[in-house]
Amino acid sequence: MAQTSRDSFKSQFGIIAAAAGSAVGLGNIWRFPYVNAENGGGAFLIIYILAVIFIGLPVMLSELSIGRSAQSNAFGSFRKLAPKTLWPLIGFIGILAAFIILSFYSTVAGWTLEYLYLSLKGNLMQQSSSELVLTFEKFTSSIYRPIFWQILIMLLTALIVVGGIQKGIEKFSKLLMPVLLILICIICVRSISLPNAIRGLEFLFNPDFSKITLHSILLAIGQAAFSLSIGMGALITYGSYIRRNESLIPIASWTASIDTMVAILSSIMVFPALFAFGLSLNAGPGLVFISLPSVFQSIPGGNIIAIIFFILLAIAALTSTISVLEVVVAFLIDEIKLNRLLATVCATFAISIIGIFCTLSFGPLKNFTIFGLTIFELMNYISANVFLTFGALLIVLFTGWKFGIKKFVEEISIGYSSKKIIPLTIGFIIKYFAPIAIGTVAIAALFIHGLT
Ligand code: TRP
Repeated sequence: MAQTSRDSFKSQFGIIAAAAGSAVGLGNIWRFPYVNAENGGGAFLIIYILAVIFIGLPVMLSELSIGRSAQSNAFGSFRKLAPKTLWPLIGFIGILAAFIILSFYSTVAGWTLEYLYLSLKGNLMQQSSSELVLTFEKFTSSIYRPIFWQILIMLLTALIVVGGIQKGIEKFSKLLMPVLLILICIICVRSISLPNAIRGLEFLFNPDFSKITLHSILLAIGQAAFSLSIGMGALITYGSYIRRNESLIPIASWTASIDTMVAILSSIMVFPALFAFGLSLNAGPGLVFISLPSVFQSIPGGNIIAIIFFILLAIAALTSTISVLEVVVAFLIDEIKLNRLLATVCATFAISIIGIFCTLSFGPLKNFTIFGLTIFELMNYISANVFLTFGALLIVLFTGWKFGIKKFVEEISIGYSSKKIIPLTIGFIIKYFAPIAIGTVAIAALFIHGLT
């Protein structure tokens, strides 16, 4: 059963830093602000926070418990816990999801490198808001540059994954996460003091519930799953490296809190700038790349801050891409018996090919659409709102009805000395509330709304 030779995280702080390293990424800083802006600001924020507490946290705990009790990868864990059933298919869906996520994620991660390069050259500092829009559009619609940066990010990811990541990731994340938080706070302070900032903050914190539809609730659940790195087995893999004496509840709660805080702070960084510089709320995927340089321009020494910010954004993206690639690599090693090097090369190559199509969908493939969405938009949309949402649904169904709430509650009660009622409540949420809530919203929203 449990192999004593299996790698494990050294400390609770290390686990939280690594899990937060996976969670905090482009999903918080790039994706959250524009999804939030497009779906009504404050009201969306409230739905998002509810989704994190009542769906995100229980699913995180499910994944961590599955991984820790099975001591195996995303596919192998289900095979061990439910042999000769169809449940291991969840692992396959997770692997497919990893392909889809990494392909568009690496496009955006590549953009951060271009913006790092532009800020190193000092280029971003002289441009007006409308010039910044043009710069973004011109760069993303070209062919070679964005592909070059995308491949570079994939190679960096592969380089870390090939070396084995436990020590690397744990150390790297412990150092990086605090620095990232401090820097975000500095930019927030500046952003709040911009003229008209208050209008951005009002937009963020004044809920207008007439904007909330079934579809926006689905988007909030999808965004929560994406941001917390749940629904595809990344946390099952990490869970398998957690020692049996660690308590899972504080690990999941800290990770979810840090992740949510960074998402909110990112909106506070971005929204005031939109109103201060008259930028459009509908800037979509370009939002961060267009509005933040405007904030940097108005800070003394802003160019230095821009450089540090884009370095950190690239690294935050990297601690996330690693955790996605590792799901595929761990699967290839355990199940197909490839060695780590070959597994990494194959996974990186295959994902990069799909990724190139995502990148080109801003330029030459702009008019190639499926269900009215470009390849990038389709991958971006279905990863969170179809794959991760349904993945999360299947994971809670597995935990509640196959693995069993009794075993689950035991697993999350290990090392947890506070009131017994908390693990029991989480168990109840997983067995009854989460499947009904996720299932109804996901199916109804897709049914009513289709893909767009
Ligand atoms: N959570 C990361 C972000 O917000 C992205 C990510 C990393 C992810 N690993 C994942 C998303 C696993 C879903 C599943 O940027």
